[in-house]
Amino acid sequence: MPTPELIPIRFALNGRTVEARVPPGMTLLELVRREFRLTAAKEGCGKGECGACTLLLNDQPVNSCLKLAATLRPSDRVVTLEGLADDPLMQTLQKSYVAEGAVQCGFCIPGMVMSSYHLLRIHPQPTAEQIKEFHSGNICRCTGYAKIEQAVAKAAVKAAATRAPTRDPGQAAASKKKEAR
Ligand code: FES
Ligand code: FES
Repeated sequence: MPTPELIPIRFALNGRTVEARVPPGMTLLELVRREFRLTAAKEGCGKGECGACTLLLNDQPVNSCLKLAATLRPSDRVVTLEGLADDPLMQTLQKSYVAEGAVQCGFCIPGMVMSSYHLLRIHPQPTAEQIKEFHSGNICRCTGYAKIEQAVAKAAVKAAATRAPTRDPGQAAASKKKEAR
């Protein structure tokens, strides 16, 4: 059988520009796991149904098992769980998952916490409905979801308590003037 032609791609992976040559049928999930050895995202169903492969593409969660690597453009930004290892919000979430007993076999968790992270970035104080809605694409066969939802709710409270108070730009400018006097 003839070897398929490889397609050159370039995109940002965890904040760094990377290049690869990929077969036309390779998925983003296969690319990050095989070529870049970023193995947090898992292949569950391979059909866009379980969310175990969730990554962030341009700040939006995607099922990376459905995204063809060859369609990535130079302006695309892909973030994996490994890329958020030092992110305080992700660390808070992960600790909360563990503290609430939301991690059992662990297979769904890398995808699940990516959805949690996306939720708390958009809705720092989510309602119970929003927590359910934002995790509706992630299947967990172990926990029954209650502990996961509890972990996300508690992480939101914790993140709010540790977040530095933000000032509006007008206030900041006014206090700078005062300091300059
Ligand atoms: S492996 Fe991608 S959604 Fe299940
Ligand atoms: S912890 Fe086992 S599938 Fe979610």
